[in-house]
Amino acid sequence: MNQSLTIRRPDDWHLHLRDGELLRAVLPHTAAHFARAIIMPNLVPPVVTGADAAAYRDRIMAALPEGMVFEPLMTLYLTEETDPEDVAAAQASGLVKAVKLYPAGATTNSASGVTDFDRVTGVLEKMADIGLPLCTHGEVTDPSVDIFDREAVFIDRVLDPIRKRHPGLRVVMEHITTSDAVDYVREGNENLAATITTHHLVINRNHILAGGIRPHYYCLPVAKRERHRLALRAAATSGNARFFLGTDSAPHTDANKLLPCGCAGCFTAPNTLSILAEVFEQEGALDQLEGFTSINGPHFYRLPVNEERVALTRTPPSFPDHIETEEGPVTLFDPQMPLNWSL
Ligand code: DOR
Ligand code: ZN
Repeated sequence: MNQSLTIRRPDDWHLHLRDGELLRAVLPHTAAHFARAIIMPNLVPPVVTGADAAAYRDRIMAALPEGMVFEPLMTLYLTEETDPEDVAAAQASGLVKAVKLYPAGATTNSASGVTDFDRVTGVLEKMADIGLPLCTHGEVTDPSVDIFDREAVFIDRVLDPIRKRHPGLRVVMEHITTSDAVDYVREGNENLAATITTHHLVINRNHILAGGIRPHYYCLPVAKRERHRLALRAAATSGNARFFLGTDSAPHTDANKLLPCGCAGCFTAPNTLSILAEVFEQEGALDQLEGFTSINGPHFYRLPVNEERVALTRTPPSFPDHIETEEGPVTLFDPQMPLNWSL
């Protein structure tokens, strides 16, 4: 039995850091373990322009505690008014590493997202030219489509047509939750990859709904049935370089989660790596953990891998059930299983 495991320092390829007091409270939990993270732009108002991203990056760096090292990889929020030249300049300056597509109304703070995909053709063309990845929140918002089918329908109705129209466009399907998405990535070419969250490797929809409703397991895309969770675990541990970690750690205060209409999001930044080590060990794939957390992501984003190493040791970690913030408590994702690995 392995007692320790040394891996390159991980990166998180999909993270919500928020702003203000919440940013200050959650950032140290990511910076403690991760070298870099792709920072989601769904603030209110959203991070739309290069100037918005530069200002948000400065606020993140100002919130980083002394002595911690962390590099935020900024993204722009795609709107129907996004200027292709602004996107290109933000990439050329090294500031921005991706553009995020939210179908309007798909999730938290997505009201400024895209309704008519024909209206972003110019931006997508430019992104294909300059090799800037598009990160997709892959769910249709058509109210007639069942929420458990929204990812699969997005692939057919939106993503596949976009990829056919822009074959050079590099796409990261974010936080995939279905075997349909796993299959689509496997069948795709080198321009297509996907992130997988920690929580979607652990929970299925019963965790949310059976025996009482559990708002802390509610996120978007919502967890699906068990066979989909198993497909995600197989993909994450397969060694296929086009699957990598994006935690989608999405903190909301308990007051905002525990409402008649509560917010979507699981807060996993503090315990993600301990949970992942457990999952990969359960799958007999600890040797694939480093690829998933530390190598496949930079490879797709054409960035260098981290040279620093971190050690996971077989020591049961302890995590609080929530963290305190100036805005109120934020509950940690509970994997409902004993954890044996500490970073
Ligand atoms: O569960 C989610 N929470 N999914 C998203 O797409 C957004 C995120 C958030 O910002 O809270
Ligand atoms: Zn997200």
